Amino acid sequence: MNTMVISFSCSASRKATWILALLFMMSRVHGQSTRGFVSVDCGLTNSSAYNDGITNIRFDSDRGYVAGGLSHTILAEYMVGSDEQQKTLRSFPDGSRNCYTLPSTFGKKFLLRATFTYGNYDGLNRTLDGSPFLFGLHIGVNFWDTVNLTNWDPSLTVWKEVLTVAPGNSVSVCLINFGSGTPFMSALELRPLLDAMYPFVNTSVSVGYFRRIRFGEATEYITRYPVDPYDRFWEGWSFSYNTYPWINLNTSSQVEILPGDDYFNVPMAIFQKATTLDTNYSFIVINASLGPNVVPESVRLLPIFHFAEINGNNMQRSFDIYNADDVLHRGFSPSRLQASSLYNSGQFLYNGDAVYTLNKARGSSLPPLINAFEVYSLLRMENFTTDSEDVNYMKQVKAHYNLTRIDWNGDPCSPREYTWEGLTCGYSSSNKNPRIVRVNMSSSGLGGGLAISLLNMTSLENLDLSNNNLVGTIPDCQIKSLAVLNLANNKLEGPIPSYILRRFQAGLLDLRLEGNPICSKVKDMYCSNKKKHTTPTVLIAVIVPVVLVSLLVVMCILWKLCHKGNSGDYEDYATYEEETPLHIDIRRFTYAELKLMTKDFQSIIGKGGFGIVYHGILENGDEVAVKVLMETSIAKSTDFLPEVQTLSKVHHKNLVTLEGYCQNKKCLALVYDFMPRGNLQQLLKRDDHSLNWEQRVHIALDAAQGLEYLHESCTPAIVHRDVKTPNILLDKNPVGIISDFGLSRAFNEAHTHISTVAAGTLGYLDPEYHATFQLTVKADVYSFGIVLLEIITGQPPVLVDPQTIHLINWTRQKIATGSIHDVVDKRLMDQYDASSLQSVVDLAMNCIENAAINRPTMTEVVSRLKMCLPAVPRLFQLTISGVPTISNEGNFQSDHAGRMSETSLLSGR
Ligand SMILES: *[C@@H]1O[C@H](CO)[C@@H](O)[C@H](O)[C@H]1NC(C)=O
Ligand SMILES: *[C@@H]1O[C@H](CO)[C@@H](O)[C@H](O)[C@H]1NC(C)=O
Ligand SMILES: *[C@@H]1O[C@H](CO)[C@@H](O)[C@H](O)[C@H]1NC(C)=O
Ligand SMILES: *[C@@H]1O[C@H](CO)[C@@H](O)[C@H](O)[C@H]1NC(C)=O
Ligand SMILES: *[C@@H]1O[C@H](CO)[C@@H](O)[C@H](O)[C@H]1NC(C)=O
Ligand SMILES: *[C@@H]1O[C@H](CO)[C@@H](O)[C@H](O)[C@H]1NC(C)=O
Ligand SMILES: *[C@@H]1O[C@H](CO)[C@@H](O)[C@H](O)[C@H]1NC(C)=O
Ligand SMILES: *[C@@H]1O[C@H](CO)[C@@H](O)[C@H](O)[C@H]1NC(C)=O
Repeated sequence: MNTMVISFSCSASRKATWILALLFMMSRVHGQSTRGFVSVDCGLTNSSAYNDGITNIRFDSDRGYVAGGLSHTILAEYMVGSDEQQKTLRSFPDGSRNCYTLPSTFGKKFLLRATFTYGNYDGLNRTLDGSPFLFGLHIGVNFWDTVNLTNWDPSLTVWKEVLTVAPGNSVSVCLINFGSGTPFMSALELRPLLDAMYPFVNTSVSVGYFRRIRFGEATEYITRYPVDPYDRFWEGWSFSYNTYPWINLNTSSQVEILPGDDYFNVPMAIFQKATTLDTNYSFIVINASLGPNVVPESVRLLPIFHFAEINGNNMQRSFDIYNADDVLHRGFSPSRLQASSLYNSGQFLYNGDAVYTLNKARGSSLPPLINAFEVYSLLRMENFTTDSEDVNYMKQVKAHYNLTRIDWNGDPCSPREYTWEGLTCGYSSSNKNPRIVRVNMSSSGLGGGLAISLLNMTSLENLDLSNNNLVGTIPDCQIKSLAVLNLANNKLEGPIPSYILRRFQAGLLDLRLEGNPICSKVKDMYCSNKKKHTTPTVLIAVIVPVVLVSLLVVMCILWKLCHKGNSGDYEDYATYEEETPLHIDIRRFTYAELKLMTKDFQSIIGKGGFGIVYHGILENGDEVAVKVLMETSIAKSTDFLPEVQTLSKVHHKNLVTLEGYCQNKKCLALVYDFMPRGNLQQLLKRDDHSLNWEQRVHIALDAAQGLEYLHESCTPAIVHRDVKTPNILLDKNPVGIISDFGLSRAFNEAHTHISTVAAGTLGYLDPEYHATFQLTVKADVYSFGIVLLEIITGQPPVLVDPQTIHLINWTRQKIATGSIHDVVDKRLMDQYDASSLQSVVDLAMNCIENAAINRPTMTEVVSRLKMCLPAVPRLFQLTISGVPTISNEGNFQSDHAGRMSETSLLSGR
């Protein structure tokens, strides 16, 4: 007999606007600080700022806060009773994203509110023409809410609020065109909060306004500033629901807020009023989820209840609070004239059903009471803003060229689908800010000088400013990561700064200057307008000598073969006896033996920087590889044997075993175990029996273990100096075996033009080498990173078609414009574990860091590679045995999809 469900509903249908209510009811209390308030009246053409007649808050025109858009006024018939900010608006018919940027302070918490009053400003009756009218809102680079004005009374105002933390010294609010009507905004208000407030809001979690209600007999429809110094909108309950059996209470006594309880700072005026029920009722149901668009299941909500006992008599009151059937608080008793706020310890409820019940507890003499409540929805700030340095450089570029591109608006790289046109961004690491890696402003009508900001960008790899009207000289500055600089067809003059020229000559920069006055004086490669890019000089500088030397060697050998008859084998032995004996455990071969083993040096199985490798068979039938070294490649013959001695002591399952050597006037050779499966480079190229993903990772791990042994277990450490896929051999299993290690130590001083080869191969060479001319163990790590990229992509270290591009840049570009799945070797046919792939890509990127100090050690590489492999025994057959791709998409899509259909509170009804 004592119960009755009372439904609290927020979608009543009163027509007076809240603005009117404000006009009549708002007490004009002035003198509160509005410090930090940013109040923007969008579309205001009257440039002078004004103080709002009701709140006395100063509003500015939006001129300084936004680029583009058109200003409008609402139709005269809707002006009456409308507040000042709602009379004008700015619409954005062009561009898919248009952003307001407001000043803020990094790390500060604030409330941001946007209001929208259509007022049929365009005379199209857009809200009532039956078609959907909606657009999106972003807070910074993250989705905030959808503004849905479909079937909306044009006189009414929608407001959206978010409580968030500033990601920088400014915050942007963007309007997103969904293709269902022109986005617009009427006013934008930023209100600083104290850091301690709303403790569940942090840099990664923001909350969206879902509902905020005050109870009791409020005099105004919306209570805001100055009653609430934070200018929150508290919707008056009594305006819509003051029918029996609600009983409104109020007090003029002070309601105490306990010291330290500053999470919500609800104004005392709100605590001094409350609503309860007649004593023959026992519970209040508050249904906060209303409107046709709410999909509460997918929204995570956090309700906050504010209570203070203000009843005059001393009877005891206690009640339980439920969200649907879940108990949120049991036996809660509001303290007399003392504020308390219950907020579920900041835990968002999975039950997105915004129905809350206050149920009189057993033994309570009074029914429940409530003073106010707030409900917020969870907004994850999962997307990162572009690196602030890059943002600043782009800002300077925009100013320098006076650019007003429609989509050059908001964050340059984030969210991805709103990347500025002409930019390519790198999102390689998921928990880092995106970086700009490519800028293409070709044929953009740019005039004036070349903006130094572009050259200063530390992550930029590719800059295309061709076909503009740039004048002056190229600024002299230390370009960092730039690998492609296309300035063709401008009006640039010389000279070319020496730093840039040096990078070009070192093959580190693909420079194009054809079609500039500069080229009337210089006739260098960068001035030729060949479509296909010219091979960098260094490539030629390396390849030509290598080819020449190889020819020379072949000729030497041929010569030796032809002239062996007369003096050959004797000479061989004679020298043998001359040698200073060193204690070397491995076999020493004679030239005659090598000749026999290799069947007169018939089958060549490889050519390298040091000489030619032949296949051979020992007396016992074991197959060997005989590497005949170029005599010219050794400085002093005395260097050879100590080196052989060292190498003969290196034993590891992933390092090729040295079986013997030959040294005398006729021959200088090393004899190794033969690896039947050839090398990794050959194997990666094969289309028939391609390596599967696990085999690839296993081989990488094998090679890494071999290198780790050279670096960590040999004293002094052996730097391989020429880590590359041709030097990773495969035994029959196939297990990766490193070859050619240690050689360059004795050999690289021998010939200056060969030393480049001996000290690394183009495409694998540590960029720091150019600065230091020192090859450390970290140079091996760098080269190993390239090997990893080859293993992942199946591409060579330098791609030449359609243009010359280093594999590193190719990979970065692919990832930047797509995803890591775009770089994977097609031969894998999508059979790989996505997280393993991500880890190997991350590891490769880490190995090729420009600064050696940032690269991991081989020990770390080994342990990271081990983690990329499943804990199952290795599969030894060369077949495809992949793992289905696991999607690594974010998990929060549903939240946003859900919020798309969430309604805002109707105001004025
Ligand atoms: C512009 O604003 C000022 C200050 O509020 C006011 O005096 C003036 O009448 C306004 N002008 C127009 C054209 O609205
Ligand atoms: C908009 O609606 C009004 C009244 O409902 C009507 O008079 C007017 O013609 C409509 N305008 C358009 C462009 O449909
Ligand atoms: C983050 O960016 C992605 C890709 O651009 C987008 O799909 C997603 O909705 C964004 N997340 C948020 C919270 O806005
Ligand atoms: C933000 O708060 C959530 C819980 O509300 C927590 O899980 C997360 O770690 C916090 N993030 C930061 C950056 O403090
Ligand atoms: C509740 O009690 C009051 C008297 O206290 C009475 O007037 C009212 O009719 C009762 N309501 C119901 C629904 O029983
Ligand atoms: C830059 O864009 C132009 C077309 O706008 C295109 O032809 C050119 O290839 C692009 N440059 C690069 C480096 O992508
Ligand atoms: C570019 O960097 C140099 C130092 O490398 C600095 O002196 C200069 O001010 C920078 N210019 C711009 C526009 O950032
Ligand atoms: C927008 O509102 C209309 C009318 O209230 C509703 O029918 C529609 O589903 C809503 N659309 C979205 C995406 O929320």
